[in-house]
Amino acid sequence: MESGNKKTALITGASSGIGYHLTRLFAKDGYNLVLVSRTEEDLWRVSDKIIAEFGTEKVTIIPKDLSIPDAAAEVYAETQKQGIEVNILVNDAGIGQRGFFWDIEFGKYQEIINLNILAVVQLTQLYLQDMRKLNEGRILNLASIAAYQPTPMLAVYAASKAFVLSFGDALINELKDTNITLTSLIPGPTETDFFNKADMENTVAASMADDAEKVAKEGYEALMKGENHVVGTAKTGVQVAMSTVMPNALVSKMARKYMEEDQ
Ligand SMILES: NC(=O)c1ccc[n+]([C@@H]2O[C@H](COP(=O)([O-])OP(=O)(O)OC[C@H]3O[C@@H](n4cnc5c(N)ncnc54)[C@H](OP(=O)(O)O)[C@@H]3O)[C@@H](O)[C@H]2O)c1
Repeated sequence: MESGNKKTALITGASSGIGYHLTRLFAKDGYNLVLVSRTEEDLWRVSDKIIAEFGTEKVTIIPKDLSIPDAAAEVYAETQKQGIEVNILVNDAGIGQRGFFWDIEFGKYQEIINLNILAVVQLTQLYLQDMRKLNEGRILNLASIAAYQPTPMLAVYAASKAFVLSFGDALINELKDTNITLTSLIPGPTETDFFNKADMENTVAASMADDAEKVAKEGYEALMKGENHVVGTAKTGVQVAMSTVMPNALVSKMARKYMEEDQ
């Protein structure tokens, strides 16, 4: 049984960056937590910190590599086994890789697509089926400004985020007569470990990054209001608006500048 009849939020990518700050916001509001990412010691570190700071009653950690096929189903099975009802699902874990398309190993693309797309679809389906039974729940998906910008040197990542946004928008319509909401968070470049992992640390994009805590707060508030979309910052909002009216060739040209080395 759930401890204290509290609501539970499951956050993938909870150990770092935007997911970590989202985790803190849930903890501050008294949610029980299920934290998922690959590195067990990082999850324990976050769990200990959250419990010490916010007195969270129940934190469950599930170390899992979500880029492995069906790992998402294993996460779901673990929460079932432990009798945890997930009321809020946050699909945050995601990765990218900068480089010319032909230079990156295909295995990296499989990892990106499995994590950024397939795990999101599988987790969403499994937990949404349970939310449908209760006719209650909330889902937050991490899209990106890249969803609006076919991005040279980050082509597969940007396309994966276009998938997340399109997928979310279709579900928002399917869910319109229910008490379940889906929110897509659309950050612009945000200061996290993402850039180091994606070989983007010296790019123009990295040099103009927004604060991760601020981006997470925008996402959290929009999720709680049941809004469909939210941008990370006003600056990102302007860029998204421009990208929706400009032809893709021009948007890509602009996006490529952000991927170049910062002089
Ligand atoms: N930072 C940006 O500029 C930016 C902009 C727009 C959108 N976003 C999106 O925001 C989300 C969060 O990114 P972030 O910037 O906060 O990055 P981050 O600081 O690198 O955090 C990524 C999180 O995902 C986990 N993760 C990575 N690979 C995983 C895997 N295979 N299985 C399970 N968990 C995995 C990481 O932990 P482990 O490594 O221990 O697994 C970590 O907790 C991503 O979806 C990203 O695409 C980021």
